[in-house]
Amino acid sequence: MARRDTSFICQSCGAVYARWQGKCEGCGGWNTISEEVAVAASVPAAQRSGRKGRAVVLEKLEGTAKPAPRLVSGIGELDRVAGGGFVPGSILLIGGDPGIGKSTLLVQASAALAQRGLRVVYVSGEEAVDQVRLRAQRLGLEKAEVGLAAETNAENIIATLSGGPPVHMVVIDSIQTMWSDSVESAPGTVTQVRTSAQLLVRYAKQTGACVILVGHVTKDGQIAGPRVVEHMVDAVFSFEGDGGHQFRILRAQKNRFGPTDEIGVFEMTGRGLSEVANPSELFLSNRDAGAPGTAVFAGMEGTRPVLVEIQALVAPSSLGTPRRAVVGWDPNRLSMVLAVLDARCGVRLGGHDVYLNVAGGLKIGEPAADLAVAAALVSSLTGAPLPADAVHFGEASLTGAVRPVSQAQARLKEAAKLGFASAIIPSGGLDGLDPPVSVRPVSSLAELVAGIAASAPRRPAGRETRDSAMREARGSHDRNPPQRAVEHAEWGDDEER
Ligand code: TYD
Ligand code: MG
Repeated sequence: MARRDTSFICQSCGAVYARWQGKCEGCGGWNTISEEVAVAASVPAAQRSGRKGRAVVLEKLEGTAKPAPRLVSGIGELDRVAGGGFVPGSILLIGGDPGIGKSTLLVQASAALAQRGLRVVYVSGEEAVDQVRLRAQRLGLEKAEVGLAAETNAENIIATLSGGPPVHMVVIDSIQTMWSDSVESAPGTVTQVRTSAQLLVRYAKQTGACVILVGHVTKDGQIAGPRVVEHMVDAVFSFEGDGGHQFRILRAQKNRFGPTDEIGVFEMTGRGLSEVANPSELFLSNRDAGAPGTAVFAGMEGTRPVLVEIQALVAPSSLGTPRRAVVGWDPNRLSMVLAVLDARCGVRLGGHDVYLNVAGGLKIGEPAADLAVAAALVSSLTGAPLPADAVHFGEASLTGAVRPVSQAQARLKEAAKLGFASAIIPSGGLDGLDPPVSVRPVSSLAELVAGIAASAPRRPAGRETRDSAMREARGSHDRNPPQRAVEHAEWGDDEER
């Protein structure tokens, strides 16, 4: 008779407790701990019996490892993120918000591999066979020879897969719906997800099939269930995008067999996901080039340059604490750029609301965007549009200097390809550069600000309006001293400068 263990496990981080408590010490989550009963079967029988281990032969690092050919789907954006195709015997996890298109992507990938003569099995734990068929019909892929099953029991799935001829790829949609006979917890709990994933990892390593797991993400963007699944798999991809846009981005977060900074860009159409071979063109389409407050950032996503438009709106605030709203960039980074503009360039935005948006729904992680963000902010504040044919890149340091960034040549080449004629870049990064466009080097943010201010339309009246708007804002503070005491102090400080 197997021993029954009861433990209390945090459903978001996997921490184990002897008794229930309201808050998980591990991740700080409230009410995430639930009771799970497990028959101690995840430990192999041999270990439980106390058998001595068998010695294994140690190998040399040097050897004749002949890697199996990768499974290439022909969907270029997907293959590139995977590092040139899927590796046989590997297991990978694709996470993403519900409805973002994970199942669509994987049905398309399965069909593409099957059309190349590989044996692919698609196991849906969430949808019935008919629903998957309907989707395949909508995608025009119903003729592809993909084995289909609606099943949630991990043992049944592995028995099915092991029964027939060898399988090249298996899709499990999703890992949160899987359960194993060996544990008694409900499907979706940490123990079930972990045990099912373990069984599938073992299957992948033993048979050389590539297993793709779909994982749901929680509200804060983490893959739901235990983070341990992320440690067990060879690669973790996230499929991102927001509801308002058609663009979807596949990003590698971890990849044992390929780069982690590559992205694949797709567009969701009425007939599934289509590849976007040149994302810059897409992100820059419908650009309002002459408007103040927009700057084009020449960024890098992995090995690929991507040009995006950064939009800023700076407006006098009527609030005590001005708003800072950011979409697609790091809010802390924005605070830093604002602080540097204030302290080193005399650009005071303490009384203004600041909105920053990366057009097209792309999320930028690079500090190289600092220069473009600063340019967009100053342009919006002064009302001076930036040159429509210029791109920007460069990292701002806290001293106000602009530091060089990597891969300047590739960024400039992409800009030239898309018809841009000039670039505003860090002066420190000019060595060995053969710019295909005319460059205007800047060494500090102050220099950038001076350049934009010089081109600002001479509108003393406009400036007065702006200043009087600020004075009005101050006046309203003075009129309401009780509620606004704190801000009033801040404004007092501002007056001094
Ligand atoms: P789905 O792949 O079911 O998302 P997930 O598995 O990540 O939850 O995608 C569902 C969404 O995609 C749904 O809102 C409809 C949309 N969609 C299209 O726009 N075009 C298509 O061809 C398909 C199949 C789906
Ligand atoms: Mg789905």
